Amino acid sequence: MAIEVFAPAKINLTLHVTGQRDDGYHLLDSLVSFADIGDRLTVAKADEMRIDVTGPFAKGVPTDRRNLCWQAAELFGETVAITLEKNLPHAAGIGGGSSDAAAVLKAMEQLFDRPFDGDALLLGADIPVCQIASATRMQGIGEVLSPIKIPPLEAILVNPGVSVPTPRVFKGLERKNNSEMDMMPKTHRSSDFWTWLADQRNDLEAPAIAAQPIIADVLRELSFLGARIVRMSGSGATCFGLFEARGHHEAVYRDLKQRRPEWWVEYATLT
Ligand code: C5P
Repeated sequence: MAIEVFAPAKINLTLHVTGQRDDGYHLLDSLVSFADIGDRLTVAKADEMRIDVTGPFAKGVPTDRRNLCWQAAELFGETVAITLEKNLPHAAGIGGGSSDAAAVLKAMEQLFDRPFDGDALLLGADIPVCQIASATRMQGIGEVLSPIKIPPLEAILVNPGVSVPTPRVFKGLERKNNSEMDMMPKTHRSSDFWTWLADQRNDLEAPAIAAQPIIADVLRELSFLGARIVRMSGSGATCFGLFEARGHHEAVYRDLKQRRPEWWVEYATLT
């Protein structure tokens, strides 16, 4: 029996860096959402660990212990055969590896009919939020999680094909003690949510742009195309544009894909 699981792209709608712990990890305040696009995995019981990777971004994905999926299976304590259809760019700020590893844990819970009782944080700060896989406020270094209701958001995701190592981006921060997110609106009116979201930030944007200036071009392009909110996700380089008018983002998607064939461009609904 093989279990099929979906590993959605993770999009940090906000990412405020509010401090740094003695061990070097940064304290965050981030509203994390998930897309309806992502990687697809199958997980089956096996006598030996094995990972096969296919898909448009298979190149460069390790098929041994270096793969976070492999480490997730080891932490669960069973051997499995995994197939991974890699549709998302890696080292891109959209949680590819973390979402895959969280999906493996989910699949193994079904496959072996027992809950995962290890510490998912050992695999990375983004794993616990990826286990939830719907809009969540993430604090601490990623372990304090509060599910949040957000209106579904129509987004264009753009990656200009450059990667920025996460530790380098954190190191490039001018200040580590930035403000937390403003208080979220209590009402469920989407106009209040949009106004609030527009005022928040991704503090990693500036150091990521310093490392890869093309990120600023992506943000400019998305603004030019009429996105109400443009921002980078995670430590980059993927950026997103949010469009208020339903259906509009599909036309923008086609336009951008034609004009920038070298960029990875997708449209998605974030929840
Ligand atoms: O946990 P993860 O593997 O995603 O983190 C990659 C790197 O990003 C860490 O080694 C650390 O340098 C940096 N990081 C951080 N603070 C966080 C999350 C990640 O400094 N909260």
